[in-house]
Amino acid sequence: MKIVIASKSSEETLRIGRIIGETASPGEVIALVGELGTGKTCLTQGIARGLAVPEAYPITSPTFTLINEYPGQLALYHFDIYRLEGVKDLEDMGYEDYFYGGGVTVIEWAERILPLLPAGTLFVYLAYRGENDRELILTGNNELIGKINNLCKEGGC
Ligand SMILES: Nc1ncnc2c1ncn2[C@@H]1O[C@H](COP(=O)(O)OP(=O)(O)OP(=O)(O)O)[C@@H](O)[C@H]1O
Ligand SMILES: [Mg+2]
Repeated sequence: MKIVIASKSSEETLRIGRIIGETASPGEVIALVGELGTGKTCLTQGIARGLAVPEAYPITSPTFTLINEYPGQLALYHFDIYRLEGVKDLEDMGYEDYFYGGGVTVIEWAERILPLLPAGTLFVYLAYRGENDRELILTGNNELIGKINNLCKEGGC
């Protein structure tokens, strides 16, 4: 199953993210794949809202630390592996405790670690279509996509 969602503003991407966050269960891994500036961090900000991460926490990319962790209804583990030098860096930090933990993992540039991603990972491919236009393609976790699709049809996206 695959759904394609058009976003015409960062607010729309935030809203899609919020739906994804509201739908996610403990141990969910969400792999974000898209070029620079396609909205990966923006989508993650929406996911954080959906997980009820308190507004006091700004969600910015954890460029130098690999991961930022936020409390929420479910914890958010936000990875940005743009600068990852090798898988060993992830092993050293015990990434499996996050991927298979009780929170929700979001990974920017996830295509760099495809073999490490658990079965059932939700993939979100983001593509630039114009200054404010982005295309989001969701695939990889049919159960979650079904729920997201229903919420989108109800007017959420
Ligand atoms: N429809 C849209 N969805 C998301 N972002 C949009 C959209 N339209 C414009 N933008 C703008 O595009 C930029 C997206 O930036 P963002 O940091 O989320 O991208 P990114 O994919 O995380 O980039 P990076 O690869 O540098 O981490 C923001 O400035 C945002 O305001
Ligand atoms: Mg980013």
